[in-house]
Amino acid sequence: MSKGLEKELIKKAMEMTKMSYAPYSGYHVGAALLAANGQIYTGCNIENASYGATNCAERTAFFKAVSEGVKEFEAIAVVGAPADAAAENTFSEYAYPCGICRQVMQEFCKKDFQIIVAKSEEDYQIYTLREILPFGFGGIDQKG
Ligand code: THU
Repeated sequence: MSKGLEKELIKKAMEMTKMSYAPYSGYHVGAALLAANGQIYTGCNIENASYGATNCAERTAFFKAVSEGVKEFEAIAVVGAPADAAAENTFSEYAYPCGICRQVMQEFCKKDFQIIVAKSEEDYQIYTLREILPFGFGGIDQKG
């Protein structure tokens, strides 16, 4: 993937923190998911008073894509920060996908799917799905 595309995904993920609905944790997460067809699907975390009903930013992006018939993916950028910091685009720590989101990635993505965690468009790390979810269970397209 080009550096330009990596930065575009990070920028969109940062923009999505502004859509976050997180009145309980106050932690705003944004994601931008690149599909194999070149389309980018965005997501934010959406909390609920019944906390377990909360949906993470990553899964929001995946479910938007899958619900539109898209099931092949290349990469996802994720950023997160407390509301005030996110509003100022200050992301002082990398926000790693939770275990449930990693399992959703396992369902739809190949082992070399890329996860970009970012503090800024210049400061980011890239991991593969297999790095952050070794020995993953199941998935429609997992061939080792
Ligand atoms: N969150 C995400 O959106 N993605 C993750 O991978 C980790 C956690 C959200 C869920 C909740 O709204 C808030 O961050 C605090 O846990």
